[in-house]
Amino acid sequence: MINLGVLVSGSGTNLQAIIDAIEAKKLPANINVVISNNPNAYAVQRAKIHNIPVEVIPNSSAATREAYDNIVVEVLKRYTVELVVLAGFMRVLTQSLINAFPMHIMNIHPALLPSFHGLHAQKNAVDYGVKFSGATVHFVDEGIDTGPIIIQAVVPVYDDDTEETLAKRILKEEHKIYPYAIQLFAEGRLEVKGRRVVVKDTAKTENTFLENPSSNQK
Ligand code: GRF
Repeated sequence: MINLGVLVSGSGTNLQAIIDAIEAKKLPANINVVISNNPNAYAVQRAKIHNIPVEVIPNSSAATREAYDNIVVEVLKRYTVELVVLAGFMRVLTQSLINAFPMHIMNIHPALLPSFHGLHAQKNAVDYGVKFSGATVHFVDEGIDTGPIIIQAVVPVYDDDTEETLAKRILKEEHKIYPYAIQLFAEGRLEVKGRRVVVKDTAKTENTFLENPSSNQK
């Protein structure tokens, strides 16, 4: 059983996926606290519905980013959080938070990193014309979406996709891989070796490939 602190700013569908996995007894974890910088985030309501403690820390709570993160660290420690889970948290972390939880902070990003890091990842993937995109769960380091990659899921990008249709397809995968990444961490199956995260005891699939568009003719 691992104690989580989930940081949110928005709708919280990833938070919901984590809650659902815990309640379905698939994920051996407890969400000790949800922290939001946005008082109006729907994620806050989701936490309350499930009786999870919520701490709203508005952006105006501190004069500097470091001071803000020091408040967050204090709250996370007070709730004895072991793994910090960023789930649509729209702030860039500073060293004060990263150093307090080294390789104990995860993030999910709606693209196949290192492609399309930062904001508007789905729009940028559509605009660029890639044939595949996806989602990435990674540990957080001092860069933006640069930390060691834990797990990725791939989705096709179709010719008639918009930012919205692609985002929806990616989000569905996010909801599967984020709880799974947390589960791997909780089970002690993640080993960080430099940039590489070795996942212990997983099946290997060989000689498989994906094509988009498929070469199977209509
Ligand atoms: C997701 O697309 C996630 O990849 C990104 O922010 C979005 C959060 O969505 N980091 P939600 O709040 O979990 O619904």
